[in-house]
Amino acid sequence: MLIYNYNLVHTAIGKQGMEFIVKSGNAEKQRGACIVVGLFEPRRLTPVADHLDQVSNGYISNIARRGDLEGKCGQMLLLHNVPNIVSDRLLLVGCGRERELGDSQYRRIISNIINILNETGSMEAIFYVTDLPVRGRDMHWKIREAVLAAYDTLYRFDQLKTSADQTRRPLRKIILHVPKRRDLNDGEMALRQGIAIGNGLNLCKDLGNLPANICTPAYLAEQAQSINERNKKMHCEVMGPAAMQELDMGALLSVAKGSRQEARFIILRYQGEAAKTPPIALVGKGITFDSGGISIKPAQDMDQMKFDMCGAAAVIATLQVAAELDLPLNVVGVVAASENLPDGQANKPGDIVTSMSGQTIEILNTDAEGRLVLCDALTYVQRFKPSVIIDVATLTGACIVALGNYASGLFSNHGPLSHDLQNAGKTIGDAVWPLPLWDEYQEKLNSNFADMANVGGREAGAVTAACFLNRFVQKHDHWAHLDIAGTAWLTGEKKGATGRPVPLLSQYLLDISELARKNKP
Ligand code: BES
Ligand code: MN
Ligand code: ZN
Repeated sequence: MLIYNYNLVHTAIGKQGMEFIVKSGNAEKQRGACIVVGLFEPRRLTPVADHLDQVSNGYISNIARRGDLEGKCGQMLLLHNVPNIVSDRLLLVGCGRERELGDSQYRRIISNIINILNETGSMEAIFYVTDLPVRGRDMHWKIREAVLAAYDTLYRFDQLKTSADQTRRPLRKIILHVPKRRDLNDGEMALRQGIAIGNGLNLCKDLGNLPANICTPAYLAEQAQSINERNKKMHCEVMGPAAMQELDMGALLSVAKGSRQEARFIILRYQGEAAKTPPIALVGKGITFDSGGISIKPAQDMDQMKFDMCGAAAVIATLQVAAELDLPLNVVGVVAASENLPDGQANKPGDIVTSMSGQTIEILNTDAEGRLVLCDALTYVQRFKPSVIIDVATLTGACIVALGNYASGLFSNHGPLSHDLQNAGKTIGDAVWPLPLWDEYQEKLNSNFADMANVGGREAGAVTAACFLNRFVQKHDHWAHLDIAGTAWLTGEKKGATGRPVPLLSQYLLDISELARKNKP
């Protein structure tokens, strides 16, 4: 993957055919098709722009003075034949006010650049915007974030269109500038991380975007198996209904009964450490289509319920990231995959089922199926004696009401874990926000006929769902539940999976790996 040449060029190819390189060197001497430099508001040149201005005898400041570019974030000006500059083109990019340059502005700048380069036929460009002073961020972060923003901007789901729109001369090579030669190694690490996480994002989005007639429980299992086959340090096991019956996964199986697609229970493990090291467990909700079952959903927007397996997709994709980065950790991913459909055999409101834990559940609403499949997965995953359990689920509409599409809901019985996840989210721009798990909410799940009901009424729906799951982990477990109902996909014109929370989970694993590395004698 990595190629070194005389120029100290470090190369890695992303799956989408994009080439990313880190490079140090003077801007005016760069040969490529386009040099990209920033301009702050109001008409203030960044150091690189200023340098090019001097080399070109004031060409850039002249243009700025004439008022063609104010420097507002999002503004751009493409220049040709700038005097004394080897490159064909120079893209001047507005970066807003210097002191306001934060994470989201930086991401927007990168995304704007990539879109314009794609439209204007520059197949190759060198970005000097990685030199921008982003508040509180170092070079490693800026390089990695540029790669991630590139992945996010360039992603298309067109595998099911018979003729996809073709960009005539697509951007193929992005060169990211680092200030000094000695930054190249760190820059290359940042590239590698960005590419691995970007590949994970793309996988998660693809799985999410695939329709439910293609992305079935069996399809999810095949995907996990094919990732397993590509990685020496992985193991994969897939169970069908008979094996699940053997384990008494009565809650999960009750959801699957109403469907002609057999359920699958997927265990994908990555072993980057000694076998005895306790793993981090990731548990994903894999409802490949949620019609609501007998408690059927309204027709409006029901198509979006193909995204109800995005938790599972994120778990599988994060395992791929862990393997691609060869992290010094053990991670076990568990996915409970099923459809939720109405049928003569489907769960009926009032039915009582026995979960793998032995606890009985009265199913008052068959549309609260996520918790039914997850509770058995949470019981199952205990057998790995994990140090941490994180489940990921598009669990409640109530969580969208509470937090919208910016932050995922975070519930945890362990303060430090909650803290670590919030920090990881901040670093990588995949926010999570804590909601309570207080015992006072538990009584909402009381049932007259079973140990608990599967719904807790209209109020605090995201909290009562989390409280339900809480009953299936032990007090001493370090457990977190992520409700990604609002963040896993976008609606409207940009309808499609977001790939979240793959960045969050990847960053969390990277943070843990860093700790593990430091604590090694
Ligand atoms: N998959 C849905 C949650 C959901 C709904 C996610 C809309 C994203 C958008 C889940 O299975 C569900 O149906 N939850 C119910 C729970 C209720 C019956 C207690 C809900 O949120 O309405
Ligand atoms: Mn549902
Ligand atoms: Zn659901």
